[in-house]
Amino acid sequence: MANIGIFFGSDTGKTRKIAKMIQKKLGDDVADAPVNINRATLDSFLAYPVLLLGTPTLGEGQLPGVDAGCESESWMEFTDTLATADLSDKTVALFGLGDQQCYPDNFVSALKTLYDAVIERGAKVIGEWPNEGYEFTASAALVDGRFVGLVLDQDNQFDLTEERVDGWLEQIKPAIL
Ligand SMILES: Cc1cc2nc3c(=O)[nH]c(=O)nc-3n(C[C@H](O)[C@H](O)[C@H](O)COP(=O)(O)O)c2cc1C
Repeated sequence: MANIGIFFGSDTGKTRKIAKMIQKKLGDDVADAPVNINRATLDSFLAYPVLLLGTPTLGEGQLPGVDAGCESESWMEFTDTLATADLSDKTVALFGLGDQQCYPDNFVSALKTLYDAVIERGAKVIGEWPNEGYEFTASAALVDGRFVGLVLDQDNQFDLTEERVDGWLEQIKPAIL
């Protein structure tokens, strides 16, 4: 088993694709194959000291899950599972997908829900990201003017994704390798 676990939620597959890209860039020795959170158990999640967690924002600024219109359970339900977990020995970095053009008032807001869920359980979160280069009105995912994790917009800025992923990985590598 590698040191880094990558878990993602995804409705239409875009976040899954990014999770795979991140795993490939880190390599098999360092990071295991990404797991859809709807297939994860708490034990499998807690097995990793380093967790890279990816989510789209769905509904109106919500995590994916049945209440956000997804066919299967996802982060919304797993964050309930996390309610009793101890993450105080975990290093967590978050990546989120959203659509700044169609949802400018709630851009990648669900990233903050995931952030709060792991912070509440004691995790150390790294990998905040600047908000420059995006056009939106409001986002719950900003803390002190910076996103709580890497933000990607595959709907409008797919051409910037690889560069953003590379920059973010360089930023977090010293803390996760
Ligand atoms: C019904 C629906 C609601 C959405 N709501 C939001 C939203 O509130 N904020 C946002 O930034 N993006 C929103 N999006 C855009 C998705 O987050 C974006 O398309 C993402 O890349 C989807 O990732 P996935 O393919 O992994 O599910 C929404 C998309 C859909 C279909």
